[in-house]
Amino acid sequence: MPKKVVLAYSGGLDTSVAIPWLIENYDAEVITLTADLGGQNERLDVRERAINAGATKAIVVDGKRDFVSQFIFPALKAGAIYQGQYTLATALGRPLIARYLLGIAHQEGATAVAHGCTGKGNDQVRFDLSIAGMDPSLKIIAPAREWNMTRDEEIEYGKKKNLQLDVSGKNSYSVDENLWGRSIEAGDLEDPWIEPPENAFTFTASPESSPPEPVYLQIYFERGIPICLDNNFLEGIDLIQTLNQLAGSHGIGRVDHVEDRLVGIKSREIYEAPAATVLHIAHKSLESMTMNRDQLRLKERISQEYAEHVYNGLWYTNFHQDLESYVESSQRFVTGNVRLKFFKGKCTVVGRNSQYSLYRHNLATYDKGDSFDHK
Ligand code: ARG
Repeated sequence: MPKKVVLAYSGGLDTSVAIPWLIENYDAEVITLTADLGGQNERLDVRERAINAGATKAIVVDGKRDFVSQFIFPALKAGAIYQGQYTLATALGRPLIARYLLGIAHQEGATAVAHGCTGKGNDQVRFDLSIAGMDPSLKIIAPAREWNMTRDEEIEYGKKKNLQLDVSGKNSYSVDENLWGRSIEAGDLEDPWIEPPENAFTFTASPESSPPEPVYLQIYFERGIPICLDNNFLEGIDLIQTLNQLAGSHGIGRVDHVEDRLVGIKSREIYEAPAATVLHIAHKSLESMTMNRDQLRLKERISQEYAEHVYNGLWYTNFHQDLESYVESSQRFVTGNVRLKFFKGKCTVVGRNSQYSLYRHNLATYDKGDSFDHK
């Protein structure tokens, strides 16, 4: 009897080819799991594509809510930005997808799970460590690490297996996207000297073509979590989508980064993360008003540790739980309003206030009313 394997399925080339490949090479019955984490590019026909490729069952999970409350907002509170540039959209999504994968595997009585990651990236490590951290008895199969096919050979193999592939070649980028941001790699972008062409971007307008007038926006945070835009309460998903749209239209959140992958490669990464950029800037400015200098100094270091271990796929660890506890405690007075200006690719803080503000006008002022003891 074929062994049941649950495959993390995006609907792209690698994971589509993986279905017949698993059937052929592992005598597997393939069940696919697709997690919707809020990418704008989700394939509507993902179920059909999986079944057409030979899967016996195609499951789609709406993970947006879990993603926001259990991954995005904790990382925001932590101030997690890898190498000062990358707000970790993909890195935060992987452990959640791994958790869904595991849940389906248990539910379906599968003994193995599979993912389409190659042996060069970070994502394989994030999947492998997350899965092994939760259930070390599950076998992990990574077809793209075993099959040694070039992209053209994959397409050839897919055609032989009668897959419908949309590989017109006009978009040569490798893209991953979710609510928290979008990453773009490969093609001309592999030359770190070449400016990314406009067609690489979809979340953001170019700063040059963005509106000629600035726009102001107020964000209210409660214990480090953003809950209002301009005094309107918004649920996390809506708040992030609204910010992606608005800040994106002002060209905010583009990043061009030569990044250190955990496997030891430097790679040139382009990101667009409008909401993440704005929220990190706003959140940090509120912390500077509500936390004292000792707290801020340690928080800086915790942020870095947190970003580093999320990047490295260590979400399901005791270390992560320890960091989470510190971060949670650090946020108990991070409540208040931040006023921002969006203009031509820049997000600037222009005001902040908080009921827990440690700023004292009478101590800071150079005017009348100074009560600081100069002696
Ligand atoms: N460099 C980023 C990271 O490691 C983006 C990875 C995007 N992944 C992908 N399969 N396209 O998180």
